[in-house]
Amino acid sequence: MKASTALAPLLGLLPKATYGSNTTTTCCSALQATSLRDLVIFPSSIAYNESVTSYFAVNAQLRPSCIVQPHSAEEVSLAVSTLVKAGASQCKFAVRSGGHTTWAGAADIEQGITIDLSMMNSTTYHADKGMASILPGARWQSVYKALDAYGVTVPGGRGGPVGVGGFLIGGGNTFYTARVGFACDNIENFEVVLASGAIVNANRTSNPDLYKALKGGSINFGIVTKYDLKTISHDGLWGGLVVYDNSTTEQQISAAVNFVDNIHNDPYASWIGMWEYNSTTGQNIIADALEYTKPVAYPAPFSEFVGIENTTDTMRFATIYNLTQELVQATGYRDIFTTGTYRNDAKVLRKAIELHNNNIEKAKAAAKSVSWAMDTIIQPWPKLFWEHTVVNGGNVLGLDRFDENLVQVLYDYSWDDEQDDALFTHLGRTALNELDEYAKSIGSDNEYIYLNYADKSQSPLKGYGEENVQFISRVAKQYDPHGIFQTQVPGGFKISEVV
Ligand SMILES: Cc1cc2nc3c(=O)[nH]c(=O)nc-3n(C[C@H](O)[C@H](O)[C@H](O)COP(=O)(O)OP(=O)(O)OC[C@H]3O[C@@H](n4cnc5c(N)ncnc54)[C@H](O)[C@@H]3O)c2cc1C
Ligand SMILES: *[C@@H]1O[C@H](CO)[C@@H](O)[C@H](O)[C@H]1NC(C)=O
Ligand SMILES: *[C@@H]1O[C@H](CO)[C@@H](O)[C@H](O)[C@H]1NC(C)=O
Ligand SMILES: *[C@@H]1O[C@H](CO)[C@@H](O)[C@H](O)[C@H]1NC(C)=O
Ligand SMILES: *[C@@H]1O[C@H](CO)[C@@H](O)[C@H](O)[C@H]1NC(C)=O
Ligand SMILES: *[C@@H]1O[C@H](CO)[C@@H](O)[C@H](O)[C@H]1NC(C)=O
Ligand SMILES: *[C@@H]1O[C@H](CO)[C@@H](O)[C@H](O)[C@H]1NC(C)=O
Ligand SMILES: *[C@@H]1O[C@H](CO)[C@@H](O)[C@H](O)[C@H]1NC(C)=O
Ligand SMILES: *[C@@H]1O[C@H](CO)[C@@H](O)[C@H](O)[C@H]1NC(C)=O
Repeated sequence: MKASTALAPLLGLLPKATYGSNTTTTCCSALQATSLRDLVIFPSSIAYNESVTSYFAVNAQLRPSCIVQPHSAEEVSLAVSTLVKAGASQCKFAVRSGGHTTWAGAADIEQGITIDLSMMNSTTYHADKGMASILPGARWQSVYKALDAYGVTVPGGRGGPVGVGGFLIGGGNTFYTARVGFACDNIENFEVVLASGAIVNANRTSNPDLYKALKGGSINFGIVTKYDLKTISHDGLWGGLVVYDNSTTEQQISAAVNFVDNIHNDPYASWIGMWEYNSTTGQNIIADALEYTKPVAYPAPFSEFVGIENTTDTMRFATIYNLTQELVQATGYRDIFTTGTYRNDAKVLRKAIELHNNNIEKAKAAAKSVSWAMDTIIQPWPKLFWEHTVVNGGNVLGLDRFDENLVQVLYDYSWDDEQDDALFTHLGRTALNELDEYAKSIGSDNEYIYLNYADKSQSPLKGYGEENVQFISRVAKQYDPHGIFQTQVPGGFKISEVV
């Protein structure tokens, strides 16, 4: 945190300062010449600093030439058409909602403009339709708070501060996935600003191909300015964190594999397994997030985890809002996420934890950070998750080509010293590669890569399979014929890099 705060003001002065300054002149001035004038903020302002420092990962806090903060779809449209008109080669721009992507340049940019949707953050409940209209700049905690009052909720992030906008177009894994499918499968309508500046709806009857493509296809078609989600009734959950000694690893793996293979018997149950080392505490622990999406204590699906001796637990009856405050990851750190999907096989999980333990020793020997943490997070990815997809209008994740239960592994590393960027990036990427190689060697590999957890070095869109790649590519060309969202908006995972 210290190092990066000190460096931040310098970044704007580093190479290409000349180019940077005429980006400011040409592109930021073009925005200022419109009715958006008061919504354009520059590096010297407090609002600019607030926007930049509100990205989750410190390494993803870039400094654009200016930031524009629209309040409505019309203002997003005006920003897009102004930047497109001002010139594709000069006015590169980025789109940002909650800023939770851990790699730099996904939702921001240098020598360009960031369209920051943070001001568009309201949640409106439509009781008559059983739907909630959620704007992209909202954080899930504000959505839950707004809907709790009506006894309803929506499937969303499991950490309160996570953003809505990026989450919903990358899939969205939630406590409710086994019951209702991925978060994106619960979207009834998207309001989208296209590269032309047109504001359109995408739903089952209007632009249905765009509707499907946005469910997983991320930033390849336009900017989503509103999501209409189906609501679910909410009368509380039973959930919390259970902490165990890491000597229980083998029991956890066995319980996990059985849990994944039995979710269809009781889709109200959700389990996340976290193996965590933190250099400050010096502890290597296991924490299970157990959440049951109705208020019933000790339901049958958790019995194998309950049978393992724990050190502490916070299990309780609580609202989704309360539970998502507990699963908050520390901010102020540099981070890398890297992820893979595998057959639900104990051998793969054992290997994932072995690589985790090896990496802890490597980091102990080399890290310069004051505080660093290594989390290996295991999550179910059973067939049941995508059995909900077709009835909900389809998506482009491509999971329907797999007829077996899968598990997902996420290596999630955090550190505070920029000098450790290369170390933790290397450790995260090599652990994943070794796990992939191992899984291949025993026939337990799988092509799918969850976009919302993917590192910059990965290719999640490719993992959706050839048919979906072709579909996404066709829809992108249809709605954005000049490829604005491929080249003028360089951030995020691009279909043009896959085809
Ligand atoms: C602490 C933490 C907890 C998490 N928990 C979960 C979880 O429980 N379940 C889960 O599935 N994932 C989770 N994630 C991953 C999360 O889904 C992604 O980080 C996701 O991108 C967050 O959305 P955002 O709005 O913050 O994204 P941003 O980083 O703002 O954007 C992500 C990408 O989407 C694009 N984008 C953003 N908004 C729009 C828009 N309105 N229209 C078009 N493109 C847009 C951006 O340009 C960027 O390329 C977590 C991540 C973190 C760091
Ligand atoms: C921006 O700066 C570069 C480098 O000095 C120069 O080549 C380019 O012509 C400038 N563009 C504009 C629009 O001023
Ligand atoms: C920028 O914002 C951060 C976080 O809000 C704050 O700690 C810092 O003091 C701010 N810096 C300036 C120059 O305002
Ligand atoms: C929306 O964003 C504004 C500006 O950051 C903030 O003051 C407000 O509390 C947010 N509203 C919600 C519902 O989160
Ligand atoms: C779908 O889009 C059309 C055209 O904009 C709109 O009239 C209709 O209400 C939308 N349907 C839903 C479910 O939002
Ligand atoms: C527990 O963690 C230590 C490192 O802190 C590691 O050496 C050991 O192998 C781990 N045990 C298991 C069962 O994973
Ligand atoms: C944790 O251990 C305590 C003490 O043995 C036990 O009472 C409790 O039920 C356990 N919690 C879970 C969720 O397994
Ligand atoms: C969540 O509920 C517990 C009691 O069950 C309470 O102690 C805690 O303060 C609550 N947290 C929030 C953020 O509301
Ligand atoms: C490690 O744990 C300490 C104490 O709980 C916490 O303050 C710190 O943020 C953690 N470090 C990381 C990198 O998460």
